[in-house]
Amino acid sequence: MPPLELDPETMRRIGYRVIDTLVDYWQSLPERPIGTRPTRDAMEALLNEPLPTTPQPFEAVLDEFLMKVLPHVVKVDHPRYFAFVPAPNNYVGVLADTLAAGMNIFVGTWMVGAGATQVERVVIDWLRQMVGLPESAGGLFVSGGSVANLVGLAAARQQYPEALQRGRVYYSDQTHSCVARALRILGFREEQMCVLESDSQFRLPVERLTEQIRRDREAGWMPFCVVANAGTTNTGAVDDLNALADLCAAENLWLHADGAYGAPAVLTEEGARLMKGIHRLHSLALDPHKWLYQPMMAGCILVREFDHLRQAFHILPPYLQDKESGVRGVDLCDYGVELSRGFRALKVWMALKVFGLEAFRQAMEHNLRLARVAEQTLRTMPHWEVVSPAQLGIVAFRYAPPHMEPEACDSLQRALVNTMLEEGFALVSSTVLKGRTVLRMCTLSPRATEADVVETLQRLDRHARRLAHQEGAE
Ligand SMILES: Cc1ncc(COP(=O)(O)O)c(C=O)c1O
Repeated sequence: MPPLELDPETMRRIGYRVIDTLVDYWQSLPERPIGTRPTRDAMEALLNEPLPTTPQPFEAVLDEFLMKVLPHVVKVDHPRYFAFVPAPNNYVGVLADTLAAGMNIFVGTWMVGAGATQVERVVIDWLRQMVGLPESAGGLFVSGGSVANLVGLAAARQQYPEALQRGRVYYSDQTHSCVARALRILGFREEQMCVLESDSQFRLPVERLTEQIRRDREAGWMPFCVVANAGTTNTGAVDDLNALADLCAAENLWLHADGAYGAPAVLTEEGARLMKGIHRLHSLALDPHKWLYQPMMAGCILVREFDHLRQAFHILPPYLQDKESGVRGVDLCDYGVELSRGFRALKVWMALKVFGLEAFRQAMEHNLRLARVAEQTLRTMPHWEVVSPAQLGIVAFRYAPPHMEPEACDSLQRALVNTMLEEGFALVSSTVLKGRTVLRMCTLSPRATEADVVETLQRLDRHARRLAHQEGAE
């Protein structure tokens, strides 16, 4: 047997064991604790070991993973994981990832990966149709929202030759930090990133933006790009895409939107209403690994003119010259930052075909309903304040009993997150809105029930009362 090979019988045996493990995990997930937050010392003591030199049975290593590693990750696919952006999964996507890894399918060039490239183009075109961009639009799969925004903004920079010298980019204080990081990577200076305070609904204020652009032109800046939100991480807020598209058309600016989280919800009534004008964008980040229920890593960038990506990224070194002779197709490595690219589109392709689009829409409608249930429940609970109503599956709220100082309230919300994690039943996360710490619940799991939402809030309430009592406020 050559090194690193296994005989077919062993391959089957351990493969089936992995599938059985996955199905058991899947079935038992709602009863499992959310996870733990172990200390670094504890993890080092549990897992540090010398570089392995002798072989061990696969089953022993799998058991070690199950006993030592799995309990110490927070389960982002848990039905009661309402923190940050949950990552509910679908089993067809999991199997597709297994196939893509098992056959190590390369989707960098047409010469090597024509079939897979065409599947990726088909899925991209389905996403394009979902958001209503024109047929000239295209895009590609990337690792996630951070890289999707980076690639979209690189395309924008390429279209404005003077952007790096005197360009200015505009976005609200609710914009995900990956946008500022992308701009930094692309070579923009802090003073070229103009962050506007969001309005009372956490949206980019269009009038103030218009005024800012006028003042900046007078001061010698070259405004060239607006980054809108199509679903903020904090509250699910969506900027007024139509008004921004009008402004960008009048001012000749690139309109990019970060819809990494929210854009797939355009399939729902609420999402379509909030995202009117999404078809007018120049570029859009949209993550199938968030609200299209796919396993990580699957982000996506769509651009209005597919060729704008090629203009930003195409380079031909001699060792790749063969891809440019003979039959020619689309070399996706020329449209983004990665040459070696796995077959991320396969999971979306298979899951959409197996379940059908309607199942995705229904799952999203369920998610939206759960957030509304959370909001309604909170409104019946004394001392709980809804800071941002249910919007695209997110509700932000705060326990604020009378006589408790705002700073003490802030720490109480943060303490609640840790208490929930220690308890292990459910998890929410905290953020800061208009200077105050709030909790947020993001109800993205199709497996979460209304009872899960209500019980999570009841537990939060019990913990909040106890913590406030300890503080002497009640
Ligand atoms: C709105 C938004 N943009 C970008 C990102 C970053 O995406 P990723 O974590 O896939 O890089 C997130 C992550 O939650 C997000 O919610």
